[in-house]
Amino acid sequence: MFSRLPKLPADPLLGLIGLYRDDTNPNKVDLGVGVYRDEQGHTAIMTSVQKAQQIHLETEDSKTYIGPVGVPGFVNGIKSLVLGAQAQAVTDGRIAAIQTPGGCGALRVAAEFIHRLDKDMTVWVSDPTWANHVPLIRSAGLEIKSYPYFDAATGDVDYEKMDQQLAQLGPKDVVLLHGCCHNPTGADLSFEHWQRITERANQQGFLPFVDIAYQGLGDGLDDDVKGVRWLSENVKEMIIATSCSKNFGLYRERTGCLMVQAENKQQAEAMQTQVQDLARANYSMSPAYGGFLVDTILHNDALRAEWQQELANMATRVKALRAGLLEQINAQGIDKDFSFITRQKGMFSYLGINPEQVKRMREEFSIYMADSSRVNIAGLNTHCLEYVASSLKKVCG
Ligand code: LMR
Repeated sequence: MFSRLPKLPADPLLGLIGLYRDDTNPNKVDLGVGVYRDEQGHTAIMTSVQKAQQIHLETEDSKTYIGPVGVPGFVNGIKSLVLGAQAQAVTDGRIAAIQTPGGCGALRVAAEFIHRLDKDMTVWVSDPTWANHVPLIRSAGLEIKSYPYFDAATGDVDYEKMDQQLAQLGPKDVVLLHGCCHNPTGADLSFEHWQRITERANQQGFLPFVDIAYQGLGDGLDDDVKGVRWLSENVKEMIIATSCSKNFGLYRERTGCLMVQAENKQQAEAMQTQVQDLARANYSMSPAYGGFLVDTILHNDALRAEWQQELANMATRVKALRAGLLEQINAQGIDKDFSFITRQKGMFSYLGINPEQVKRMREEFSIYMADSSRVNIAGLNTHCLEYVASSLKKVCG
């Protein structure tokens, strides 16, 4: 019976891990999967996380089920982290929320929640968007379409084109937005754009759905969510999926959170039962461990301060790598404007080279990036900047 199903190609992003690992070139550079690395190319465990692990080891006294919400302190901590501790929607009890197995778990439960609201809803994603958004949403049975977003000529957001599309949408549409540090392009919406999206959502009646996986890796923990907070304060209903993979470095713990903002407390209580029911039918309840760690960090003043400093250092390092890469590219005299690299935010940038050039970067120079030419800036280090820039010069001609 199993012969009916073919062997599938490797996942476009995760497949790069194996290709890089098997490459024997000592100069190889991994700019593929979105994982933060230090100057030595290592994804170290954050010291605040290590301390939280120790506390957890010493205090955990049971392995019984955690319950459908997940770790309550985690869920409450994430609501405050994203929306602000004093956010009206939080203090009014308008946020239904559950811990999820990573940001993907949150996105998948959200997609099923939307399908349950109305199976004929269309989810609109940015062009381009994170590759895994498409299968996550489609496999919940929803139609997916894309709205104009990235202007390849400038490396920025083409908001006027995006707005023209949003103006056509209505109550059967959901608009998926990247909260900050757009994946894959690094081109972020400005605060003014978020204000205009909010106006459009209220005029047209579409449902905003925010995916935020990089809070703190752009301009800072609060600045990165200024637009998301504005949206939340000014619309009645929205969905938010968050991940702790990058900003807490908890990649393999699969630690995320799904929040559903409802019009009032009573509706939020009803939505709480809905998301819990969807989770139960999928995986019952989230693994707890990552939630315990984040809860410990967010609710311990010293650990929280340490984590914030570590995260700020990571963001500063990424910005310095952006500046360093641009400097090296300019020194090579490549006939293309790459100044967008320092305007873009977070871990990713689109180099804007074609698939043939991406292949040459990989095959001739062992520099790995997504086929779209997305590079993980955090995979660079000061020693490889010149090598990457000179290789780019060779493939760009
Ligand atoms: C990425 O975009 O590279 C990361 O979010 C990892 C993944 O799961 O795709």
